[in-house]
Amino acid sequence: MSIPQTTTSHQAGNHSLTRTAFQILRAVASRPCCLWDILSSTDGTIRDIYDTCRWLRERGWIVERDGRVQLGRLPKYWTQALRVDFEQHREQFRGVAGECPAPTTQFFQEPIVPDDVVRRVEFLYERGDLFERAILVLGDDDLFSLAAGLTELPRRIVVGEIDERVVNFINAEAKKRNLKVEAFVYNVAEPLPAHLRRAFDVFVMDPVETVSGFSAWLSRGLAAIRHPGAVYFGLTELECPPSYWHKFQRLLVDCGLVLTDILRNFSHYKNASLANPQAWQKTKLVREAPLPAKADEQPHWYRSSFCRAVTVKTPKVPIRGRIKLDSRFYRSPYTMTLD
Ligand SMILES: C[S@@+](CC[C@H](N)C(=O)[O-])C[C@H]1O[C@@H](n2cnc3c(N)ncnc32)[C@H](O)[C@@H]1O
Repeated sequence: MSIPQTTTSHQAGNHSLTRTAFQILRAVASRPCCLWDILSSTDGTIRDIYDTCRWLRERGWIVERDGRVQLGRLPKYWTQALRVDFEQHREQFRGVAGECPAPTTQFFQEPIVPDDVVRRVEFLYERGDLFERAILVLGDDDLFSLAAGLTELPRRIVVGEIDERVVNFINAEAKKRNLKVEAFVYNVAEPLPAHLRRAFDVFVMDPVETVSGFSAWLSRGLAAIRHPGAVYFGLTELECPPSYWHKFQRLLVDCGLVLTDILRNFSHYKNASLANPQAWQKTKLVREAPLPAKADEQPHWYRSSFCRAVTVKTPKVPIRGRIKLDSRFYRSPYTMTLD
């Protein structure tokens, strides 16, 4: 049986695990499992789950005793990857995120609160898209790359980001903590550098939610990933109406992806970029408010859904060349939070 998966290498040997295989091993690591335990905790078709169980059993990675399966002999780093303490990573990441450069409206930055960034990482893990995967992040004021890197599970994380301060911060933290994370200055208006094309399994973005912004971000990500691959993105309803969601979903489908998850209100934002009262007063959010918009009374009201799509074939890349960054790139008629 062939498993459609890029091969990954490690000092413990050359192995490859699909998402399904990883999820089955994770379930079995938590307790001896019967068939129903495995079916209820693994994504995918029953046929694929059955094939993968046989494949794991042939290699001795799961063994059967009295109608239940247990873990067989596995590389040690696999066993560690099957049980992860995200509470510890959350604590660690709060410290890292507290040091990041202040957000700027110049690049439409507004970071997600640290605990919600770790929830995103946890969701990738849950879906089998974190362990041993090569991940590209485009635009990372949220520091998702560092949060994911702290787990030591991904094979490689690369960040392309326009703001040099964020790039320097990520590289310095990665070096200090010996993480497999590297960042470079990159503008999504430019084509993706050739050496990054089809070099990743997973693409993560929190793009500007204009039609040209989303299309540019997605195009660079689709040039970066191979099949089977996954795309994760944040999208809000507050500045992005259903007609835009429709365009974005159609683009995903036309490029050979299918939406698998929309986690409603999964990420909340810090409300930090407009801390300067003058900038705050100039926003449409404040100027057009039907009630007093009191900055100091804000809870974390700005939120986005976290979405996931997977490839059904090697994705098409809608835009390959350079894009002109005009006023429609960062602002749509629905943009309210910029000055
Ligand atoms: C687009 S902002 C979105 C911020 C926020 N998380 C949200 O959804 O409102 C996300 C990241 O993209 C970066 N960014 C903005 N314009 C960019 C561009 N043209 N190329 C690459 N990164 C860009 C920002 O610096 C920031 O780190």
